[in-house]
Amino acid sequence: MIQLGDPSTAVCEQGMAAVASTMDFLWICLILLAVVLPEGSLADLEKQRMGSGLEIYKKLFEVKRKDQMNALKNLIELNDINQQYKIIDIMLKGLFKVLEDSRAVLIAADVPPDGPFPQDEKLKDAYSHVVENTAFFGDVVLRFPKIVHHYFDRNSNWNNLIRWGIGFCNLTGVFEQGPHSQLLGLMAQELGISEKSPNYRNPFKADHSEFFPSADTFQKALREEEKRRRKEEKRKEIRKGPRISRSQSEL
Ligand SMILES: *[C@@H]1O[C@H](CO)[C@@H](O)[C@H](O)[C@H]1NC(C)=O
Repeated sequence: MIQLGDPSTAVCEQGMAAVASTMDFLWICLILLAVVLPEGSLADLEKQRMGSGLEIYKKLFEVKRKDQMNALKNLIELNDINQQYKIIDIMLKGLFKVLEDSRAVLIAADVPPDGPFPQDEKLKDAYSHVVENTAFFGDVVLRFPKIVHHYFDRNSNWNNLIRWGIGFCNLTGVFEQGPHSQLLGLMAQELGISEKSPNYRNPFKADHSEFFPSADTFQKALREEEKRRRKEEKRKEIRKGPRISRSQSEL
């Protein structure tokens, strides 16, 4: 019989934990990519002909938002800051690629955000990808501000894209009422796209943990991961040795 504490079981358990954690990683990656990548979710739209296109789309948007919230919940519950960094990195690349492609389609066809909901299949998809990915990016930046800033702040192309996306969404009217009415304003302030109002608070930051029960553990893990990253960067600096460019710029 295998005893508890038997070294072979311990190794095995570690191995199992690593496998489980890799599975979680891949699984959550897939879930997140599924909510940001094109998938032709608008087929149902054809079947419903009552109401204006936009009214129907708003209902589909609510369904999509539920999927997004579930994906986000999985990511939060992963509780592994290192994997959260990796997953968010991969996810943001996919999200912004879709946003960029969709923007190109909408601009080429001159689709106005405040006009009627487009009829053409390709334009419908582009329109909904912009609205959905902008909303989801807002959720991610509010829940994981440090991680998102880590990748976003050095990417001016993403900055341009999301500025455009927020502006577009704001004019569609999809966010005007209901549960998402604060989202565009909050994300724009968190991203530094619009000026932070003096009473701006990210509702998910640690000092407002009533909105986010696991905030303390999360913040602690975040600090540890940041310490680890700083150390790693320092090690890289040392390995590189003194840099010529620096001494030149100091002349
Ligand atoms: C949305 O548009 C309104 C009206 O033009 C404007 O006051 C507001 O600042 C915009 N919000 C965002 C997040 O851009």
